[in-house]
Amino acid sequence: MGDPAPEGSSQAGAAIDTLRRELERHNHAYYVLDAPLIPDAEYDRLFHELVALEAAHPEWADPASPTQRVGGAAVGAFGQVRHVVPMLSLQNAFDDQDVVGFDRRVREAAGAVGLDVSLLRYCAELKFDGLAVSLLYVDGRFVQGATRGDGQVGEDVTANLRTVRAIALQLKGPVPKRLEVRGEVLMFRRDFDRLNQAQAARGDKPFVNPRNAAAGSLRQLDPALTAQRPLRFFAYGLGESSPDMALPASHAALLDWFAEIGLPVGQTRSTCADTEALLNFYRGVGMARAQLPYDIDGVVYKVDQRDWHEAIGFVARAPRFAVAHKFAAEEALTELLGIDIQVGRTGVLTPVARLRPVFVGGVTVTNATLHNEDELSRKDLLIGDTVVVRRAGDVIPEVVRAVTERRPPDARRFVMPTHCPVCGSLAVREPGAAAWRCVAGLYCKAQRKQALLHFAQRRAVDIDGLGERIVDQLVDLDLVQTPADLYFLDATALARLDRLGEKSAANLAAAIASSREATLERVLFALGIRHVGEEIARILAAEFGAIDAVLDADWPAILEAKALAQKHNARARPRGEALMAVPLEGVGPEIIASIQAFAAEPHNRQVIGRLWQAGVGLPPAVLPNNALAATEGAGTGQLSDDAPSRALEGRTIVITGTLPGFSRHEAEALIRQHGGSVSGSVSGKTHFVLAGDQPGSKITKAQQLGVPVISIDQLQGMIRDDGQEN
Ligand code: IVH
Repeated sequence: MGDPAPEGSSQAGAAIDTLRRELERHNHAYYVLDAPLIPDAEYDRLFHELVALEAAHPEWADPASPTQRVGGAAVGAFGQVRHVVPMLSLQNAFDDQDVVGFDRRVREAAGAVGLDVSLLRYCAELKFDGLAVSLLYVDGRFVQGATRGDGQVGEDVTANLRTVRAIALQLKGPVPKRLEVRGEVLMFRRDFDRLNQAQAARGDKPFVNPRNAAAGSLRQLDPALTAQRPLRFFAYGLGESSPDMALPASHAALLDWFAEIGLPVGQTRSTCADTEALLNFYRGVGMARAQLPYDIDGVVYKVDQRDWHEAIGFVARAPRFAVAHKFAAEEALTELLGIDIQVGRTGVLTPVARLRPVFVGGVTVTNATLHNEDELSRKDLLIGDTVVVRRAGDVIPEVVRAVTERRPPDARRFVMPTHCPVCGSLAVREPGAAAWRCVAGLYCKAQRKQALLHFAQRRAVDIDGLGERIVDQLVDLDLVQTPADLYFLDATALARLDRLGEKSAANLAAAIASSREATLERVLFALGIRHVGEEIARILAAEFGAIDAVLDADWPAILEAKALAQKHNARARPRGEALMAVPLEGVGPEIIASIQAFAAEPHNRQVIGRLWQAGVGLPPAVLPNNALAATEGAGTGQLSDDAPSRALEGRTIVITGTLPGFSRHEAEALIRQHGGSVSGSVSGKTHFVLAGDQPGSKITKAQQLGVPVISIDQLQGMIRDDGQEN
């Protein structure tokens, strides 16, 4: 600035200087400390104020100004940068033994040059999954940034790195005249997801993972494009540094110092004295990995004493004083050998990728679900393609995408079958549904097998030992058509099964027999009615007390009553008025429709009839020896004392509220014991409403329809009177 400054220039210069400091302070708070001080909009306002001032006063231009982070002119090609200190790579360790070997070699090398190995410490830190860069600061100002390249010569990406807000353009405090910092440029997962959403919205190809996105963004020839990408930076090491200032003696202290001068460093690190401590760090980070906001592919151990590094030396192109302890790769390439169709319990046809076995995320993966037809065409996978398979943490493996560049000329497109591959019946894709479905129901052996496995599972009627292998045989030999048939198998039939010894056959027979005692809610769940999971089965069992009561409930009336209560509540709630209890809360129209569809199928009735015959899922009152009364009736004594009568023959009774001295279950059992039936909702067909304390909306409905409301005492009276008459 040799020319005389224009009028007002020094004032403007001071304002510009203040704004620049202010903006860098906010960049630091946001990107280094991860603790923003002001809202984004306020940052933008300050930024634009500075842009305007700089435009009016070009004499104060400065490449280190925060405004320069928007990216300068595009270049035709990157220049070259020779690394004064080569950018080496790290040796890898894949298991505990490799780490033990690393530690042994360090101790040998240190001992050989007379260092006191009892003082040896390691600094353990994260291995960021991005790309390595070197940042050169002269007099504390960022002047040059480069990629690693071949380790000797990299590409000059200064203009692009200037746009990365986590990279300080001006360091704080005293620093050596020349200071070269090394670290990793990467993208946070949440930023990556947002970027990909934007790519998709524009119709652009999404990036495969944050590392590729970061690499692609940094290597843009137009820095203005890089400026729009949410890149981050973490410093982890040193390149050249001029000898005019002493730097911290340990690596851990060096990282702390980086943070002090304004460079972001990873927070997760530890100083370790031996391999045990290193391995603990590795395992701890492995568990916390998914919670980090960015990807890592391992941890790095470095000898903490920086002045030992030279002495310990190098092997080939890697230092002996550091090692990368890698996590199992979460992504791998393999071949899509074929696509199989799996038929599920409800007939859904699921395409499953058959893969050339590949080790990924710590396991060998041979197949992965492709979910449905839409997913398949969205991913554009062809049989024969090389595909990226991903298995992160405990997540089930997935096929991420095809590597289309490697697509062989004979790659084949897969077409969803129009018929069930197992039973040959028609497959349909209902409008609005993603799935193709085999229409055959239990006629289809695949569905039959799945239905049996569902029925027998621990959370259903729990038949121990009835696994896939046995179910396959039972169905393939046509020994079992429906779950009810299980109870009519004889020992000789079971003994015929392949590889099922006499003892196991007997155990299985016993397990089948004891599954008769499964509670009503488990039997309801076991039936596999669509949308009736464990929770819904529990609600239904508690409300109706018997399978037939569920199937024969007056569902249209229940739906009507639900709608009525919901409508009332919608009006009453904002006014603070009393609410009506919604009958069968949680059981919505979709579930009800599916129960009705199940009930309408005569075949299902037959299965339930056969189950009853076998003693499975019986209404409590019909249980042999009144098992319920014997176990649960103890509280009242009334159930077991009363001899069954037909006092309530043909009467449909609805229960509401809490009955004094009776559980809901006991009251239902009492009614059934005396020939009555229990229904869940009040309709024209209801004979009585049995009401206890805090009755629900059923009372209102009863009053509307003129249905008599009685108490438990009155009900017991009716039963007694009947007994006396007999
Ligand atoms: S130190 C001489 N520390 O891993 C040692 N590298 O193969 C130089 N990396 O290219 C590397 N996190 O991109 C070091 N905390 C970390 C790292 C790290 C990621 C990358 C770096 C390098 C590669 C080593």
